[in-house]
Amino acid sequence: MLKEDLVQAPNDLEPFWMPFTPNRHFKREPRLISAAEGMHYLTPDGRRILDSSAGLWCCNAGHAPRRVVEAVRRQIGELDFAPSFQFGHPRAFELAARLRDLFPGDLDYAFFTNSGSESVDTALKIALCYQRVIGQGSRTRIIGRERGYHGVGFGGISVGGIGPNRKWYGPLLPGVDHLPHTRVLEHTAFSRGQPAWGAHLADELERLVELHDPSTIAAVIVEPVAGSIGVYPPPLGYLERLREITERHGILLIFDEVITAFGRLGRGSAAEYFGVRPDLVTTAKGLTGGTVPMGAVMVRKPIYDAIVTENGGPDHAIELFHGFTYSAHPLATAAALATLDTYREEGLFENAAALAPHFEEAVHSLRDCPNVVDIRNLGLMGAVELAPRDGAPGARGYAAMVRAFFDHDMMIRITGDTIALSPPLIATRADIEEIVTRLRAILTGLD
Ligand SMILES: Cc1ncc(COP(=O)(O)O)c(C=O)c1O
Repeated sequence: MLKEDLVQAPNDLEPFWMPFTPNRHFKREPRLISAAEGMHYLTPDGRRILDSSAGLWCCNAGHAPRRVVEAVRRQIGELDFAPSFQFGHPRAFELAARLRDLFPGDLDYAFFTNSGSESVDTALKIALCYQRVIGQGSRTRIIGRERGYHGVGFGGISVGGIGPNRKWYGPLLPGVDHLPHTRVLEHTAFSRGQPAWGAHLADELERLVELHDPSTIAAVIVEPVAGSIGVYPPPLGYLERLREITERHGILLIFDEVITAFGRLGRGSAAEYFGVRPDLVTTAKGLTGGTVPMGAVMVRKPIYDAIVTENGGPDHAIELFHGFTYSAHPLATAAALATLDTYREEGLFENAAALAPHFEEAVHSLRDCPNVVDIRNLGLMGAVELAPRDGAPGARGYAAMVRAFFDHDMMIRITGDTIALSPPLIATRADIEEIVTRLRAILTGLD
């Protein structure tokens, strides 16, 4: 059961500058959460809030999974911190080996980070370094995609394609270009799963390759399913074409799987789900089920070999000048190992896969609700897009989120006027029904 001794509400909200939040409104009308278990959050005043978004797409094993709670408790008493520069602790190696087994093909090496943003910047740096050590030092450009979200580091916002995340921060990384986004509602609205239309949008990469010359391009980075911008599954054949074009031109392909890895599509990764093999995969979130911050970049063996084995230098030489104080932090590795155990022993990826068709039916049943202009889904990712209010883009989505929390005891994730759903993988059919029933009530009462 959820704890009764809930943390008291604080009486001074001002000093916490909240991320990606309208601070002024929040502090007037705070949405506070003080405990969690399973599919629910609990507020300081004791309301049970149904979590339709796995926190921020991360609590894939549900809240406070028993094995993870116990593992972290044990770990803090056993080994609080160990440096990963020049030293190592056993669980870090065990975790890397587990990840090697989880990711397909020869994505055999794990570089540990503390977040999705750090994973993205790490992957970009490894890509640039690889091209240089194999004698392709002129390949310094990176191609992202419009509307892509790759976190908030300077690398991530440079390759990302969300205007407000970029425009305040100067010229960003040089030499970046962007593929067109795949949001073309007149062709794809209300598609179930992957849209049949749009594979040709990947051919735009050929145009960019021609424009810049392949000898200048190091890597292409995309989210296999665009998540944060509002759940856009790739058009059928799109990722395959990207892979074919990148391979033909010696360009590395990076899948940003910060959301899609660890069961969101009913498989260990989107690379496995789509059967498309990228060169690097960025992860975070579901790796520890959101319990302790951690990310990992999975790297194909030839890339590791080129940088570490073939270009390594003498025994005392560091091969890659990169890393974080908290790379492979003992608490995070303990949490990740226990989370992976939970996924396996509770069959959560299988549960997600089995639930996905039911989830699809359920979210698409909202089509007749007021203001709905599109519904999208893949695996346990879903989006209900609302028409914006006249002259006030984002206001309707925001109102839906506030209403969900205060009037319908549900947490929803919004991006602009789109409601994004990503329930924990422990969800049952009844949970999905409940989410959709509450969503219908929220949308029906919304102006
Ligand atoms: C695809 C993708 N990449 C990177 C990130 C950034 O992750 P973090 O917020 O952990 O830095 C996110 C976060 O939502 C994401 O969805």
